[in-house]
Amino acid sequence: MRLNSKILWEKAKKIIPGGNGLLSKRPERFLPNGWPIYFKKASGVFIWDLNNKKYIDMTLMGIGTSVLGYNNKFVNNFVKNKIDKGINTTLNCYEEYELGKELLKIDKFADQVRFTRGGGEAMSLAIRIARSKSKKTKIIFSGYHGWHDWYLSANIQNIKNLNNHLLKNLKPLGVPKIYKNSAIPLEFNNISQLYKLSKIKNLAAIVVEPSRMEKLSKKFVDELNKICKQKKIILIIDEITSGWRDCKGGIYKKIGLKPDLVVYGKALGNGFAISAVIGKKKIMDIAQDTFVSSTAWTERVGFAAGLAVMKFHEKKNVFNHNKKIGKQIKKGWIELAKKHGIKIKVNNLDTIINFNFLYKNKNDYLITLFTELMLKHNFLANNNIYISFSHSKEIVLKYLKAVDKSFYIISNYIKNKNVKLKSKVRKTNYMRIS
Ligand SMILES: Cc1ncc(COP(=O)(O)O)c(C=O)c1O
Repeated sequence: MRLNSKILWEKAKKIIPGGNGLLSKRPERFLPNGWPIYFKKASGVFIWDLNNKKYIDMTLMGIGTSVLGYNNKFVNNFVKNKIDKGINTTLNCYEEYELGKELLKIDKFADQVRFTRGGGEAMSLAIRIARSKSKKTKIIFSGYHGWHDWYLSANIQNIKNLNNHLLKNLKPLGVPKIYKNSAIPLEFNNISQLYKLSKIKNLAAIVVEPSRMEKLSKKFVDELNKICKQKKIILIIDEITSGWRDCKGGIYKKIGLKPDLVVYGKALGNGFAISAVIGKKKIMDIAQDTFVSSTAWTERVGFAAGLAVMKFHEKKNVFNHNKKIGKQIKKGWIELAKKHGIKIKVNNLDTIINFNFLYKNKNDYLITLFTELMLKHNFLANNNIYISFSHSKEIVLKYLKAVDKSFYIISNYIKNKNVKLKSKVRKTNYMRIS
């Protein structure tokens, strides 16, 4: 029986509000008509849809989790071995300690670690720790940090407060109004705003993402370190997306940030759910006094995956490979855009790479068109790629051939030559979808 993913998605939306539990996997964000939506199996960079059609993932790679590639045999075997021995018992699994010990070898500034499953959960834990330790309330933040009340509360004061931090116009529905002004947004790299905000009273912590599509500037990093040190403000670095992608641990080391707490997720388990809050004992130890505890936090699979991922990094230079591939693709984008007379802007990271079309109000249309065209060549593609160890040079060459053909058609669209998107235009903001 051929399965129709579109029908399945419509049915799913009836019993699961929003269709699934993660905004970033909703087909409306890629190609409202025509996206394969569901997968049956995956391996390396390949994904098979419900009708066994094979695609190459040149986009989000498990929303940034699969830095090693899908279904990594080494990680799987390590995890399977643990599964066969039992995963959640009345006693603790020693892998919790082992993963903690291994992480502390990498993050020398830190003495203690606590684990969660999801990234947003880990951020909530870090915030609770910072507020408990400082006995203060307010959080200054820059970037995206998950769905929890502490973060969404930023939009009680103004529904646009989170607009420059990834998702636009998020309603703070269900977040108690008394949290108003407890989380205050700080624009990425904005030093004068940092000065101003750091003077507010009752400040518990400053939280930043060290990079999203660009890295924090050296000047911002220096000022942030200085302010946090002088004013004894807890500095939390959210490395849920950036961590374990460019180097072992976080990129905070590379750009010179001096954190009190660092939070990892995504790449740490290569798709298995494991996140960590790691930090200085003088701050972390308060986790014994504020109540933070969850059954799923002690389940064995996540720790096993984390250990296996760390072992894999010992064996292979994943980071170098991924950077080379990222550079190769970006070079290809730039050359092909030039060849076809298309104006694009490419970001300055190498392992999360991105381009945007420089045509006013047309970016989403053109990216959707790009997705539609690339799908004909069996590539899952938009304007972002999270590079993985399974993206080989050969795959990239094949991909760039398809980009060449797609950019040619896009250049015709730009020249008004009878090219039209078949699908509706993608919608990347948070929205009701049914
Ligand atoms: C920087 C950052 N923080 C927090 C989160 C939330 O993590 P999760 O989706 O695992 O809850 C994300 C997820 O994309 C993220 O990129």
